[in-house]
Amino acid sequence: MSVIRIQGLQRLHGEISIQGSKNGVLPVMAAALLHSGIVVIKNVPVIQDVFCMMDILESLGCRCCLEGHTLILDTRGLCCWQVPEEEGRRMRSSVMLLGPLLGRLHQVSTCYPGGCSIGRRPIDLHLSALEQMGAKICGDEERVEAFAGKLCGTDIRLCFPSVGATENILMAAVAAEGITRIYGAAMEPEIEVLCRFLETLGAKIDGIGTGFLQVHGGRTLHDGEFVVPGDRIVAGTYLGAVMAAGGDVCLLGAPADHMGETLDAARKAGCVIEWKENRLCAKMDGRPRPVSLSTGPYPEFSTDLQSVMLAVSCVASGESKIQENVFEERFATAGELIRLGAEIRIERGTAFVRGKYPLRGNCVQAFDLRGGAALVVAALAAEGESQIHDCFYICRGYEDICRDLTAAGARLSFKGDEIGYEENTV
Ligand code: EPZ
Repeated sequence: MSVIRIQGLQRLHGEISIQGSKNGVLPVMAAALLHSGIVVIKNVPVIQDVFCMMDILESLGCRCCLEGHTLILDTRGLCCWQVPEEEGRRMRSSVMLLGPLLGRLHQVSTCYPGGCSIGRRPIDLHLSALEQMGAKICGDEERVEAFAGKLCGTDIRLCFPSVGATENILMAAVAAEGITRIYGAAMEPEIEVLCRFLETLGAKIDGIGTGFLQVHGGRTLHDGEFVVPGDRIVAGTYLGAVMAAGGDVCLLGAPADHMGETLDAARKAGCVIEWKENRLCAKMDGRPRPVSLSTGPYPEFSTDLQSVMLAVSCVASGESKIQENVFEERFATAGELIRLGAEIRIERGTAFVRGKYPLRGNCVQAFDLRGGAALVVAALAAEGESQIHDCFYICRGYEDICRDLTAAGARLSFKGDEIGYEENTV
């Protein structure tokens, strides 16, 4: 049982340090398997999904040691190609192991990935790309088995800029012989993070930051050290908290250069944003202006901040409209926001919201990671006490949302038991 209690209507003021990127570090941890050696990753967020990925890497024969925010991976002992079922089902990122295990061990067996229930989330684009590179894929509706005596570089055309598929193709391409060209690649900042990490190990990739990536495969890799950038979704979440609760907060280590669409939306909602000396400062007086946005692949508005902006729109001074175009079931939190007094109508993938202020404290339930964070944002603008149950979802991606928002003057407390990670020495 895990519950966050929040006393609402407290303006925020102060500084919050932004953790390392969850969606940046997870593919990097998987990509480390491509090299047999020692990899050091810094600014690692201490979150459940990182512990889960460490458990998986250890079960495959690697050694992991997390000291503070520095993760030391020793991948020389990699010997197993079967991803453990329990951990594999716990998060979507377990699918990231397909490419590296095929590249390093020429074989992989894994369950279908788990993760937030925000839609069907098939992996057909991953599998068809790996087949084009020479992998033999079989399995059933439960598991995927793949074999590749040799991966060969080729041209891959993605019909949708899938982040995960782009990441799997990149990792397989580094191990493949020859050149792989990815047309229609995802352009999320996390793709650039993975490319920069692979370059640190000795890979050669052209077109980084664009929708066309060319990988020169088969190069010898070497040990490396890498620093994970700040988490743009966590930073966007706390911007949402300032917009909903009002106040004046500076975010330290926020990757502002990868938050263009988020900052635009915040400014349109009336938030004054200032960027100075690696501090992203946000000031909000009064209620936010109504929101009108539509999610899509980067650089469009991130689907991962849709729930947070939905929460902000619940207290806006007017009618808002939010269209979700990436995950077909990402409005589950709307029902819980309505229990906090919000007025939301969902029609054909679009939320229509009539803002009101304040909301009213209540007991609500988190159904997924970002929806849970959105409930925290909404509760900050609710009268009285709110309780958010099943908030373990939030711990998957946020180091400590209570610690962070308390640092800015919010009144929250957490009650529950989170599983830590048994430290191992490398
Ligand atoms: C990554 O998920 C992120 N997760 C998600 O963040 C993020 O919402 C998403 O990218 C989009 O930005 C991680 O990085 C761990 P996709 P991913 O493949 O790779 C469809 C969070 O809250 N699709 O770009 O799974 C899919 O169903 C999480 O941190 C296929 O149809 O996203 C979806 O509709 C949630 N076939 C769309 O593409 C495929 O083979 C986007 O998926 C793959 C995807």
